[in-house]
Amino acid sequence: MSGSNNTSKLPSFPTDFTWGAATSAFQIEGAWKEDGKGESIWDRFCHTPGRIEDGETGDIACDHYHRWRQDVALMKEMGLKAYRFSISWPRILPSGRGDVNSMGLAFYDRLVDALLEANIEPFVTLYHWDLPQPLQDAGGWPGRNVVDAFVEYAEVISRSLGDRVKHWITINEPHISALIGHLEGRHAPGHTDLHEALVSAHHLLLAHGLAIPIIRSNSPNAQVGIAIDFHPQTPVSPSATDRKAAWHAGGVINRWFLDSIAGRGYPEDVRRAYDDEMNFVRDGDLDRIATPLDFLGLNYYSRNIARSGPGGATAGAHRTIGPSDESTEMGWEVYPEGILEMLGNVHFTYDFPALYITENGAAYQDKVGPNGQIEDSQRISYLRRHLEKVWEAILLGVPVQGYFVWSLLDNFEWTYGTSKRFGLVYVDYRTQQRTPKASAKWYQGVIRDNAVPCSNEPG
Ligand code: FCB
Repeated sequence: MSGSNNTSKLPSFPTDFTWGAATSAFQIEGAWKEDGKGESIWDRFCHTPGRIEDGETGDIACDHYHRWRQDVALMKEMGLKAYRFSISWPRILPSGRGDVNSMGLAFYDRLVDALLEANIEPFVTLYHWDLPQPLQDAGGWPGRNVVDAFVEYAEVISRSLGDRVKHWITINEPHISALIGHLEGRHAPGHTDLHEALVSAHHLLLAHGLAIPIIRSNSPNAQVGIAIDFHPQTPVSPSATDRKAAWHAGGVINRWFLDSIAGRGYPEDVRRAYDDEMNFVRDGDLDRIATPLDFLGLNYYSRNIARSGPGGATAGAHRTIGPSDESTEMGWEVYPEGILEMLGNVHFTYDFPALYITENGAAYQDKVGPNGQIEDSQRISYLRRHLEKVWEAILLGVPVQGYFVWSLLDNFEWTYGTSKRFGLVYVDYRTQQRTPKASAKWYQGVIRDNAVPCSNEPG
């Protein structure tokens, strides 16, 4: 960036830009069977030997269920304007539907009040993958009844918090929930069936669409959206087959979800490649899925490199590789340009009324230094370079209204357990002590100045 030095800054972000950080219930709360909470598919998955690295579970995680006051204080200290968190469905409805657990509701009630008191806007996600196990036993996302159950749950939560919560995210990453949970089997419920994955994706999207009017009716003037994981696709070579592979992989991962939400139905080329009758799509479903949104949330981490496989472009295209000169502890390539590609692509293709980056961040091997501090300069560099690209997108006219770092705290990273640290705040899992990393202090400065400091370092 021309003229950059350690003291200069990008010009200000728009006034009222929402600076936040994000978490999800299962990854931080712990208290897995306290105060009437029911079992979730992630509780079951973690308790199944061989599923999670080192046999870890989310039973305690960051113990946020007991330490939430301290966590809100940390957010306040950092100057966060917003906090994105998710509600644990089985804490509210232990059987998935029916009896409401008032102690579960009371937890989120107190949390929301404490956030508002600290001037932090709550962004509430209803579903971040922890389906109540009884609903899984009754068929899970491949069964259509789960859609009604989700709508009932949305009704209960929005009735309880709708007077104070004004930003709602229905579902987090339906693509991951459907495909990694039901086709690749690396996430709960651990199934490996393409048809199941497609039905699940459809029901997740339908549940999203049907919940929107319920939330709006219980939460006057609320903004409602969904969080989509977007993965830009780069062909490994300029050959026609690799380009076709990239187009197809983007279809499976990105267009399937965005086209349908935007009212374009499922992309025909991907439908053909799936070769599934899709008779689970009933009349009117696609209209419901396309219920207009107030905003679209986008989660961005990296891109995929697509190459055509031995069976031709469409057959092999799901196989993507992430090469890298520079990658994070997850092995994900650091590719800041991708966040700009994504924002431009999504905005100029679909024109949603507003966009938020609902997740962006990186895992690194953070170590507590001799002085007790965590100097996570790689994370600062990652965040800075991505924010520069977000700012460029805004200059190009993309209506980005906010940005949430993943994550506020180091937490339980699904199948990787606690081995991957994404937090602005370090968590010592033996003592549950929290220590803000250097990146937390850096982010505090960004929020205070509403601008990103530039640096001389390359990249
Ligand atoms: C996203 C998830 C989030 C976290 C980050 C690293 O896909 O939404 O829970 O696992 O990846």
